[in-house]
Amino acid sequence: NGGGKGGRGALIVLEGLDRSGKSSQSARLLSFLEGKGCATEGWRFPDRDTSVGKMISAYLANESQLDDRTIHLLFSANRWEKRSLMESKLLGGTTLVVDRYSYSGVAFSAAKGLDIGWCKAPEVGLLAPDLVIYLDVQPEKAAERGGYGGERYERVEFQKRVAEHYHSLRDSTWKVVDGSLPMETVEEQLRELAMNCISECQDKQLTNLPW
Ligand code: TMP
Ligand code: MG
Repeated sequence: NGGGKGGRGALIVLEGLDRSGKSSQSARLLSFLEGKGCATEGWRFPDRDTSVGKMISAYLANESQLDDRTIHLLFSANRWEKRSLMESKLLGGTTLVVDRYSYSGVAFSAAKGLDIGWCKAPEVGLLAPDLVIYLDVQPEKAAERGGYGGERYERVEFQKRVAEHYHSLRDSTWKVVDGSLPMETVEEQLRELAMNCISECQDKQLTNLPW
């Protein structure tokens, strides 16, 4: 528990294709960390509760049409509007488990053909995660999971391009976990990665994304 020793909380991000299991695994990780007495909150992007988030949600539900660059900047703005709260939570000792972040922003927009440098630019200055857990699932396998196809990007051919862009974004903070393993196995791996990260980053300074 970072809070107990006066250290900061960890910024832990889960990334992966649609239906890779991020949301279920974030929830499981969150209750595990809470059970350990660790100050933790579960966040997600897009945060559909803000007014920007509502525009994003309508776009994803195909209820509105937006130009590719416009929606890209809205996703980014949705992170920017939470940046200062994010920083104060982390500095106050709360660990954040975040379902999607800037990597989703870049991978999904780049998969539409937008320039990667252009996609990264609005993310510069957002907080850098201490750990990125990528849940690796084949696009075809993800498509077999329940609820697939409900939102705009849930098409196998598109998700294959997203996966390629995710691959090119991997850096030293990334840990790739095989998301096709049994749920309990994945859960166990995430617990260990998260616990290590939380204890290692207590005395480390918060930094910004290195893009
Ligand atoms: P969700 O299913 O996790 O709520 O995410 C909704 C969709 O939005 C998902 O297909 C990924 C996509 N997305 C982006 O295109 N850019 C972003 O910045 C984020 C956070 C998500
Ligand atoms: Mg979704």
